[in-house]
Amino acid sequence: MKINIAIDGPSASGKSTIAKALAKRLNYTHIDTGSMYRACAYLALKHDLKPEAIELVDLVNRSHFGFSENGHILLNGKDIDAKIRSKHVDLLTSTIAQNQAIRSTLVSIQQQIANTKGFILDGRDIGSVVLKDAELKVFQTASIESRAKRRLTEYQIKGIDVDYQTIYDEIKLRDLQDQSREHSPLIQTEDAYVLDTSDLTIEQSVNQVYEWAKELIEERGDTND
Ligand code: DC
Repeated sequence: MKINIAIDGPSASGKSTIAKALAKRLNYTHIDTGSMYRACAYLALKHDLKPEAIELVDLVNRSHFGFSENGHILLNGKDIDAKIRSKHVDLLTSTIAQNQAIRSTLVSIQQQIANTKGFILDGRDIGSVVLKDAELKVFQTASIESRAKRRLTEYQIKGIDVDYQTIYDEIKLRDLQDQSREHSPLIQTEDAYVLDTSDLTIEQSVNQVYEWAKELIEERGDTND
């Protein structure tokens, strides 16, 4: 029997990378919920709206959020994935994610998408709010230093000129915003397995979550339905 998997953790801890690889291995569907919050930031920028504006909530409620086969976010049918992965969008998204009206719209869409089994959702509130009954909950973390180093490498590959200290400070600020916000802050639920990826390769991290998942899937019987 298939299960649902919730992966939560701070910014730049590699949740989406692990979730994507795991989904491929298990033949599950991966949903990167952070990209939905990022799409809201994109809407705010495009329409020049403040994170707390009621017009932004209306716009979000009238928008359609979907995913392409390769996991890219589709906003009203349009693939905006390439436009939502910048440092500017990072910080704005973290502020928009404090807006409870927007959260509740996105949470209900996420719950509708994953209303059967075979989903891997990654985000901040998956195990605590969106999929409270997920069979496997993982809290994926890593030191700020290792997350900042990974982000720096990603930016360098993309040719973006940014220094280590700036990235380090921004990750620290986003951690603080995500963990201390009033609504659905990032928390480690008691039933979550902790995965510290500071000293692990991607392959080692995927293997570990795969082992946890496999054990639970086997406990429930068949492995592929
Ligand atoms: O995972 P990410 O870095 O793409 O997330 C972008 C922002 O969205 C981050 O600041 C936290 C927020 N977020 C959230 O509040 N809840 C989620 N389920 C996913 C992301």
